[in-house]
Amino acid sequence: MRIALLGSNGQLGRDLQTQLADHELFPLTRQEFDVTDHDRARSVISALKPDIVLNTTAYHRVDDCESQPELAYNVNVLAVLNLVRIANDLDAALVHISTDYVFDGKSSTPYSEDSVALPLSIYGNSKLAGELIVRTTARKHFVIRTCGLYGHAGSRGKGGNFVETMLSKARNGDSIRVVNDQTVTPTSTFELASQMAVLLKTTNYGLFHMTGEGGCSWYEFAAAIFELEGVAANLAPTSSDLYKSPAIRPRYSVLENARLKHLGLNRMLHWRDGLAEYLKSKTSFANLANREG
Ligand SMILES: NC(=O)c1ccc[n+]([C@@H]2O[C@H](COP(=O)([O-])OP(=O)(O)OC[C@H]3O[C@@H](n4cnc5c(N)ncnc54)[C@H](OP(=O)(O)O)[C@@H]3O)[C@@H](O)[C@H]2O)c1
Repeated sequence: MRIALLGSNGQLGRDLQTQLADHELFPLTRQEFDVTDHDRARSVISALKPDIVLNTTAYHRVDDCESQPELAYNVNVLAVLNLVRIANDLDAALVHISTDYVFDGKSSTPYSEDSVALPLSIYGNSKLAGELIVRTTARKHFVIRTCGLYGHAGSRGKGGNFVETMLSKARNGDSIRVVNDQTVTPTSTFELASQMAVLLKTTNYGLFHMTGEGGCSWYEFAAAIFELEGVAANLAPTSSDLYKSPAIRPRYSVLENARLKHLGLNRMLHWRDGLAEYLKSKTSFANLANREG
């Protein structure tokens, strides 16, 4: 299939390039066009005549979205509406990435695709608005909600990834305090990209939750990183109440990959096994990057 991959140098975009290599892939970065430039987006994507438009772009600096709602809505909603129109005109499927932040975190059991979304932040609202536009108007679509992404390339929008930040703090001998009252499912972009490659071979369109299995607090995730790497760290749990961040985050946002499981397509590992795989693959990734560099 011909796939136009938007946000191709993001952390998910980079792993998708590897996992979708057996397709005719057209990696597109902000240099080709900014998604908020609707005319340019239309002309570049239309010229490629893709079967799939895969959108990984987002404005996802969660706290900054609170003070810059226009930017959040421009990238996460209005640009997405434009992509829907383009995909429909080309009779292409639109693949769009959404987030666990569409939920309010009041549940204590995993959210399925049928759970009611009630975002707490501008970011969550903008992502829910974007996904609803796709779900209601894109004729062929996959909307994929995921959580706590980390990948070798590091998040372009947020700068780096949690695993590497923790390891670098430990190496510097910093005192590390990590919140123990937000339960998530850390998900490796390599695994997510590989699961997406499985789904995109099908025509099971619609909404999907796609995260690692199980859940943990960010503190427990940090502890697992140090344990698996055999690194001694000065780590202690803390509470998010001590940090007055502008955006409210859900206290619990574990997602159940219910639809993937129902279709017999779930390949996602438990978050701890996904982390172990990521840490193991770091050496080969570094060698490859050195060779390419
Ligand atoms: N990171 C997480 O923990 C997380 C959790 C749940 C869901 N998600 C969702 O997963 C998706 C991928 O996230 P990620 O972690 O891979 O993000 P990322 O590393 O920041 O990648 C996003 C990519 O989108 C590009 N982009 C952003 N705004 C753009 C614009 N206006 N025009 C064109 N390109 C633009 C960025 O380009 P530049 O490199 O030029 O900035 C970057 O390449 C996003 O939709 C996000 O909302 C992420």
